[in-house]
Amino acid sequence: MTQNENGKLPHDTESYWRTDIEFPKFPSLEEDIQVDVVIVGAGITGITSAYLLVNEGLKVAVIEAGKVLNGTTGHTTAKITAQHDLIYDEFIHNIGRSNARLYYEANTEALNFIKETVDRHKIDCDFSTQDAYIYATTEKYARKIEKEAEAYETIGIEGGLVDSIPFEIDIQKALVMKNQAQFHPTKYLVQLLQLITQKGGLIFENTAAVNFETGEQPVVLTREGPRITANHILACSHFPFYEGLGLYSTRLHADRSYALAVKAKKKYPGGLYISADQPTRSLRSVTVNGEEMVLIVGESHKTGQGIETMEHYKALEAFGEEVFGLEKIVYRWSAQDLITLDKLPYIGELTSGQPNILIATGFRKWGMSNGTAAALLFRDMILGKENTFEKLYTPSRFYANPSLKNFLKENANVVGQLIKGKLDSPKTNPEDLSNGEGAVITLEGHRKGAYKDDEGKLHIVDTTCTHIGCEVEWNNGDRTWDCPCHGSRFSFTGEVIEGPAEKPLQKYDYKMIDNLTSEDSGY
Ligand code: FES
Repeated sequence: MTQNENGKLPHDTESYWRTDIEFPKFPSLEEDIQVDVVIVGAGITGITSAYLLVNEGLKVAVIEAGKVLNGTTGHTTAKITAQHDLIYDEFIHNIGRSNARLYYEANTEALNFIKETVDRHKIDCDFSTQDAYIYATTEKYARKIEKEAEAYETIGIEGGLVDSIPFEIDIQKALVMKNQAQFHPTKYLVQLLQLITQKGGLIFENTAAVNFETGEQPVVLTREGPRITANHILACSHFPFYEGLGLYSTRLHADRSYALAVKAKKKYPGGLYISADQPTRSLRSVTVNGEEMVLIVGESHKTGQGIETMEHYKALEAFGEEVFGLEKIVYRWSAQDLITLDKLPYIGELTSGQPNILIATGFRKWGMSNGTAAALLFRDMILGKENTFEKLYTPSRFYANPSLKNFLKENANVVGQLIKGKLDSPKTNPEDLSNGEGAVITLEGHRKGAYKDDEGKLHIVDTTCTHIGCEVEWNNGDRTWDCPCHGSRFSFTGEVIEGPAEKPLQKYDYKMIDNLTSEDSGY
């Protein structure tokens, strides 16, 4: 692991959850197939759904555009809790007391399901029960925490207010939710993958869904050509690979956040912690090669709209130094989450009235419990069983407050970003970039994105996002091009890392550009 010359930060991003474990490899789909259920996306929702459905005797195929467990699930904090920031007081006001209680129950049921599954199959995944705390360092947030404590009491959540937490953080108030949990998510899910294949489930990597045909037996069309016919399609691909009439681009926004795994000088006291105040700080322990380490997570911002990305890591480093004293930073990585208008996930019919095409997305930062809850709901919907949570999560719901307000705000933000990007005309000359540096530049009067790699080779792309045309921004921490409108992300060579964009950014050969006319260069 190389260290950043400016401090202790590792040079490269690498999630601990993806380094400590051997991932199984799966073939890509080579021919048309027919199954009962096809699942698009091999993260926690897709894999848990497949596990549940093969156990019901159904023939299941999971397809993944890249490698299994390489999306948000492989970059999570892996807390399994129903304490999702300050949410229950807000939910009681916006969606009602019974729905707020249902949300708590759905996430608690998910937590219990994970625990039972770990016990049943004796899965070695560092699962442990932990109390979860949310704390306030300011008077303003202390008042909010007191309101949240009242909400806990109203809907019957076990917990209560406390005045201190075992860190040198000057807090005003904290609220505990008892008996939550943490685990190693990829160790858990790799075991589920094995159980799925043992029961005849099919898994395909490097097989990207690009569209589907509706009907009694809908069909998933893949980029590579083969078709999968099924009775049900489950879209578990984070941003939906196909929006149908659901208008998901207008009802979701993408947030990025950052994580460090650190060897601390002080012993970690146990527990899950998150700050109520901004910037968010989230803490838990993790065991790396037998050594206890601390995960420090936070600094979230809208994708493509943050400050220079290394600054986020440095802010977490400074916080870790102050609270624990840092011996070393072993890993750093970032994650992307999708957030809905009313903060409840969308789980259910992708387009209302099409019961055989289901979607799960918008878990905010709480995908371990919400993703598992989605899988449990999918199982019941496919088997035609009643499920208490179906109405709560249905994507066609609309709560006038706050959905309308947030709908207007988010879409005004998209329009603002679209216009802002078009008006920017940066002055950077690509020759001035240092190795490892990227920037938006102007070439022949057109906005372009340039990255000079560690060997000094320039990679130039068109910065117009291939989704609906916003201008991508450079993410220096991850060396990616990120779109501020709906969160698509592209590698420095322009390949799609994360949708909703499906097509790569257009590449430019820098040497050729000198000789190109505007017409030649595609304008
Ligand atoms: Fe929608 Fe880029 S992700 S325009």
